Amino acid sequence: MSKMKMPTNLPDPIINENAKIVLARRYQKKDTEGTVYETAKELFWRVASSIAAEEAKYDRSTVKPAALARDFYDLMTSYSFLPNSPTLMNAGTGLGQLAACFVLPVGDSIEDIFDAVKHAAMIHKSGGGTGFSFSRLRAKDSVVGSTGGVASGPLSFLRIFNCATEQIKQGGTRRGANMGILRVDHPDILEFIKAKERDGELNNFNLSIGLTEAFMRAVEKNEDYDLVAPNSATVIGSLNAREVFNILVQKAWESGDPGIVFLDRINRDNPTPTQGDIESTNPCGEQPLLPYEACNLGSINLGNCYARGHNGKDSEIDWDELRRIVHLSVRFLDNVIDASVYPLPQITEMVGKNRKIGLGVMGWADLLYQLRVPYNSQTAVDLAERVMKFVRDEARSASKQLAAERGPFPAYAESVFGEANLGPYRNATTTTIAPTGTLSIIGGCSSGVEPLFALSFVRNVMDNDKLVESNPFFEAALKEADAHSPKLMEEIAKVGTIRKMDHLPEELRRVFVTAMDIEPIWHLKMQASFQKYTDNAVSKTVNLPNSATKEEIWDIYWKAYEYGCKGVTVYRDGSKTSQVLCTGDGD
Ligand code: CDP
Repeated sequence: MSKMKMPTNLPDPIINENAKIVLARRYQKKDTEGTVYETAKELFWRVASSIAAEEAKYDRSTVKPAALARDFYDLMTSYSFLPNSPTLMNAGTGLGQLAACFVLPVGDSIEDIFDAVKHAAMIHKSGGGTGFSFSRLRAKDSVVGSTGGVASGPLSFLRIFNCATEQIKQGGTRRGANMGILRVDHPDILEFIKAKERDGELNNFNLSIGLTEAFMRAVEKNEDYDLVAPNSATVIGSLNAREVFNILVQKAWESGDPGIVFLDRINRDNPTPTQGDIESTNPCGEQPLLPYEACNLGSINLGNCYARGHNGKDSEIDWDELRRIVHLSVRFLDNVIDASVYPLPQITEMVGKNRKIGLGVMGWADLLYQLRVPYNSQTAVDLAERVMKFVRDEARSASKQLAAERGPFPAYAESVFGEANLGPYRNATTTTIAPTGTLSIIGGCSSGVEPLFALSFVRNVMDNDKLVESNPFFEAALKEADAHSPKLMEEIAKVGTIRKMDHLPEELRRVFVTAMDIEPIWHLKMQASFQKYTDNAVSKTVNLPNSATKEEIWDIYWKAYEYGCKGVTVYRDGSKTSQVLCTGDGD
């Protein structure tokens, strides 16, 4: 496709200081010496124009590529929507791998295992993250037919994947992230649960235990459950479900790992069950996928969808603006599929069939600050549901419109939508809530649906200069209340929160809460509210104070199940020195 010329009247993007650094280091194009030769404006135009150019393929398209390119440019440079990092890095560069999320199968043979290692390396190189289920691998010490020897088991192979990852930087920028999942009924489950006991062990992996409904029922009734050999499908032992759950909780209390995913629930929502079971998610857990499937994500900045009431006082959400952004973003993400070149033919085939996209949100805490609604309140939890229902309904309506222009996703007829005569849709899934680790830095907004970590903090800049950085909505509110001063900002930067600052107005202390001020249950309620109207899953960490007990973690894990979440990750403050990726720091 020929390159679209940059319009002469294209406005320069406004870029915040942190974004400048991140964009130059990771996203703008560099020559062989590592010198950046692409401006941020050129970057956003490269992405906007190459994704809009895909429109030309469709005879019945209702929009013109040149006009669409301009719309996409404005959408991204207003930071109302950003596509996932690989799209920003690679679109229009000839590299063409634009998706963040992949799941690869790991079969029970040496060939299959090393194929998966190789395929993961190819995906990491192109900027994607990989998830694997190790559940098909035979248990440690079981017999190997061909040699009469004994098998090494999932964990020893997992270490090989971890080592391989260590050596490959994603597109020369960051190290790859992985998810490793083992079903709770795999005979090696106890070893797997303890796999990250030592700090730094398997540090390129997030681990999750795949919990089944049968297991959860056994926990509830304090019964034993069966361990099944994957290679022979025979029961080879049993464990007490509560004891296993207890060890799981103990390890999560110690280090945050492993997380849990509810496999049966994920498969209940599998839109294309005739293509097989979903065994794993992507690295950060928000995107369950079939083996060899990939998905590209994008996030809407909800902080931009705030509208001051007509009377200048009552504030509200600008629903019309949100609708406009959702529709444009869905078109963008569907075009990304066409613009992508995947590293394996199996992936091209799977993505081509189901055309999954994952539109999500970021800037949720920023929106709540503007609306003056505390994150830890029923009003916020109810609003989350309303917002996400709106996003999903509009995303589906946009996907329907695309299906009318371009045809439904090829597997539509055999999908649950086809069976129920819903649709047709262009995409088997439309919504996913990503962590937005780097996107939120570029957009200058709060990440995903997380509360802020600190209202104000000290950032070390070059030459040992210290810069106090604060949330803009918080600063504005302080100014409005006549309470702003540089001295106060420095004080807040020391602790991050204003919870105990009695001299500040009560209203501000109620609204401007941070992750550490919030009772864990609110984290979970918020996750469940967003999950209710998200096709895929929600990336969320339930933050706990260092003093949190194992009983509290048990309770959170259990409630995550009761509330209908697809999985949960906890992190007890100070419980491990390094965390697996998914922050803006990458490696
Ligand atoms: O903000 P950004 O688009 O960079 O990524 P994110 O929303 O924090 O993460 C979305 C997904 O990108 C993750 O779940 C992974 O699948 C992938 N990812 C990765 O492969 N490597 C990383 N270092 C970070 C994210």
